[in-house]
Amino acid sequence: MNPETTLPGSGGAETENGEKPFIIAHISDMHAGSQYFVPNLMDRAVVELNELRPNVVVTTGDLTNEGFKQEYLLAKSYLDKIQCEDLLVVPGNHDARNVGYVHFEEMYGSRQTVCHRDGISIVGVDSSEPDLDHGTIGRHRYKWIADQFTVKADFRVFLLHHHLLPIPGTGRERNMVYDAGDTLEVLQACNVNLILSGHKHVPYAWRLEDIYTVNAGTVCTLRLRGKVRPCYNVIEIGREEVTIWRKYPFHDADLIIKFSRSDEAFEKSTMNVKEQPS
Ligand SMILES: [Fe+2]
Ligand SMILES: [Fe+2]
Repeated sequence: MNPETTLPGSGGAETENGEKPFIIAHISDMHAGSQYFVPNLMDRAVVELNELRPNVVVTTGDLTNEGFKQEYLLAKSYLDKIQCEDLLVVPGNHDARNVGYVHFEEMYGSRQTVCHRDGISIVGVDSSEPDLDHGTIGRHRYKWIADQFTVKADFRVFLLHHHLLPIPGTGRERNMVYDAGDTLEVLQACNVNLILSGHKHVPYAWRLEDIYTVNAGTVCTLRLRGKVRPCYNVIEIGREEVTIWRKYPFHDADLIIKFSRSDEAFEKSTMNVKEQPS
C-alpha cells in the first residue's frame, strides 16, 4: 500500500462488496512527557484519525511517561482533538506511576470503560498496579467483566494495557499480566472475539482457540525495539471478516491479520523475529 492509499472503508465509506464496516482505531503508548515523545507524529495521527472517521477510538494506556499531571494534560490535549463520539481510554503501567491514577480518574472518570454500539461490545479494564510494571486483572474483577459481556452482541472486544500472550521480537518476556491464564479463560467464557493491548510497543497478533489478541505499537514515540516503527492499528469489522492494519503516521499501512467471522480461516502477516537484524 503506498502512502496515498486510503485504508479500505475509511471515512465510513463502503468497501468493494458494498458493506460499511465498523471501524475501531486503536492507539496506544503515547508516553506524553517522555524524551522520546514526538509531537509531530501525534499531530499527524490525529489528522489521519479525523480523516478516517472511525466509529470508536480506543487508547490502551501509557498515555503518560511518569503519571504526572502535566503529562496527562499534554496527552489529553491531543486526544481532545480526535473527532469521535466514542473515545475509550484505559490506563497503563506508566500512568499508574506517582499516584497518576488520580489524574486519570479526574480526566476520564472510571478506569474501566464499556461501550455497546451497533451489536459490538467493547469492555476495557485497568490492568496496572501502582508503581509496578507488570499487569493484573484480579479475581475480584472477573464477574464484573463477565457481567458487561452479557449484553447481546455479535462481536465482543476486550481492552487492556498489558499483553495476555507473549509478543515475539521484544526481548526477554516480562511484565505481562500475572493472571493471564485465568483472564483468558474468563474472556473465552464470555465469547470475546478480540483482545486489544499495548505495552510492548510492538504490533502483533495471535489466534488462541476462538480469540484473536492484537497488540498495537507506540503511536508517537521512539521507544522502539529493533526495526519496529511508530504506528497505530485500524480494525475493520465487516459482516464476513475482520481486517486489522497497522498504520504508520505520515506513511503507509500494512496488514497485521485478517480473519473470518464464520470459520477458523485467518491470514496473518506479522513476523517480528524475522524482521530483527541478523
Ligand atoms: Fe508503553
Ligand atoms: Fe506499558
